[in-house]
Amino acid sequence: MLTPTMNTKEILQYLGGEAAFTYLAKAKELEKKGMKIVNFGIGQPDIPTFEHIINAAKEALDSRFTGYTETAGIYELREAIAEYLNNRYSSDVQPSEVIVAPGAKAALFLALSAYLREGDEVLVPEPSFPAYPEVAKFLGAKPIFIPLKWLGRERGFKLDLESIERAITPKTKMIVINNPHNPTGAVFSSDEVEWVMDLARRKKIIVLADEIYDHFIYDDLKFKSFLSFPDWRDYVLYVNGFSKTFSMTGWRLGYLIARKEVMPRLTVLAVNVYSCATSFVQKAAVVALKKSEEDVNKMIELFRKRRDLICSRLDEVRGFEVWPSKGAFYIFPNVGKVLNELNITVEEFVNRLLISKGVVVLPGTAFPETYGKNFIRLSFAVDFTSIEEGVKRIKEFVEELIR
Ligand SMILES: Cc1ncc(COP(=O)(O)O)c(C=O)c1O
Repeated sequence: MLTPTMNTKEILQYLGGEAAFTYLAKAKELEKKGMKIVNFGIGQPDIPTFEHIINAAKEALDSRFTGYTETAGIYELREAIAEYLNNRYSSDVQPSEVIVAPGAKAALFLALSAYLREGDEVLVPEPSFPAYPEVAKFLGAKPIFIPLKWLGRERGFKLDLESIERAITPKTKMIVINNPHNPTGAVFSSDEVEWVMDLARRKKIIVLADEIYDHFIYDDLKFKSFLSFPDWRDYVLYVNGFSKTFSMTGWRLGYLIARKEVMPRLTVLAVNVYSCATSFVQKAAVVALKKSEEDVNKMIELFRKRRDLICSRLDEVRGFEVWPSKGAFYIFPNVGKVLNELNITVEEFVNRLLISKGVVVLPGTAFPETYGKNFIRLSFAVDFTSIEEGVKRIKEFVEELIR
């Protein structure tokens, strides 16, 4: 457990940071020194929040909707979230089963801290968004990493179902499933999702389902949400948010769906941490849910084209093995051959690329442990020109190093 006398190094053993933000800071420093940076690092849509959402926030401010709200969120928003999810996933979520939070990260923190106790084990498919294992460790629980299967450039990444089942012990409390998946861009199939749900039923464990990228799905793939199971209440804690779908990262708004009985526990945690999410942002979020279909579809179509472009360009980089991701807005190429040839680590590769060419990519080891030691992550939430320019620089960098 954390103690007040620990130094920074000791604290970091309990709670790591998030590489995307570290590299963002490094890139800003280089930019100040006059370097033209191409940033494939941070995971946020590059387009501004849609105009009607901004106007709704302005209206809320104009009408002085600026005070505290109910901790769980204004009823109007919880109702809109429930309706939105029910339309999308034929589920039956009630407004009383929604708790609004300042960002999906805060919702994840609530879910993990409401359920995990010291010594509990949490299964985390790896690579993984860093917050799940870091918060689990912070709470004294133990993340058990289960590597995804890498099936090469044709088939991509899959859940390793046998290894997941084998990893279950009497201490296993939860499995975290992020679908579509950051950082690989995988979309786990209906079969995989059904298998995980069945495991939860058989072993009586909780599925923490983070579906924050649920709109970012390409190639007409079918997406199966954990909310679409009639018995979701017994096993599922569901997290989603506004950051990605509505390009609202800086507005900080997310939510957690859980059965009614656990709401008092979640609300008491929430009231002690953040009291409520920002009032006028909640008003704008209602409008986001009701009026954004066309804008969101346009954005996804744009992102699909960017995915196609970045894949075809990265494919031309010597030694890169590129699987065209199916969801989210990340590409996770295997660069193991290049690293071997140069005898450097992925962190060295990434740092040198940043310093010599001004291109930000993240090392696969940021997600978190060792799985990603042969991978880098690029976000393609950047414009076409930057994709062309950035990958051109990566190509030059690799060729100069290997020469
Ligand atoms: C998988 C995943 N979950 C949650 C979040 C956090 O989202 P928010 O900005 O709503 O806190 C992110 C952001 O990068 C993410 O990639």
